[in-house]
Amino acid sequence: MTDKTKPYLINFPKIGESSLGYISLTEKENLPFVPKRIYWTYYTPEDVVRGNHSHYELEQILVAVAGKVTVTIITIEGTEHEFILDSPDKGVFIPKLCWRVLKYSHNAVQMCIASLEYSESDYIRSYDEFKKLIKKND
Ligand code: TYD
Repeated sequence: MTDKTKPYLINFPKIGESSLGYISLTEKENLPFVPKRIYWTYYTPEDVVRGNHSHYELEQILVAVAGKVTVTIITIEGTEHEFILDSPDKGVFIPKLCWRVLKYSHNAVQMCIASLEYSESDYIRSYDEFKKLIKKND
């Protein structure tokens, strides 16, 4: 069974060939959660850093369907992981209780597959608050 406490890369199927183009997809059985929400971000200037928050319960999968997204994740154990998403056939699973920092190439379109509906009360937007949770976890 997949360890849902650690971030990891997901390789999606890639159907097609260069002369025809490709399709990537997933079935819910192959995801670590059943999606409740999908959103996408785009036109993020390269000098803007997004994310900078954690979630109490939300789990996410990020996919750079175009361009490049650099995802830095700090887990509740305090370990840091970096993932470069630069291909539409891969994604990164972000567990609950992980701090994330997101940087984008100018042409990046980031799709997020989310385990829960939007809820502002699920966000931890203060790094100090997040650090307290890391300490509690020690
Ligand atoms: P946020 O999750 O902070 O963006 P990012 O992590 O990409 O920097 O969301 C940015 C704003 O959009 C925030 O005001 C909340 C709003 N928002 C919604 O209303 N619904 C949603 O599903 C999401 C993801 C964000």
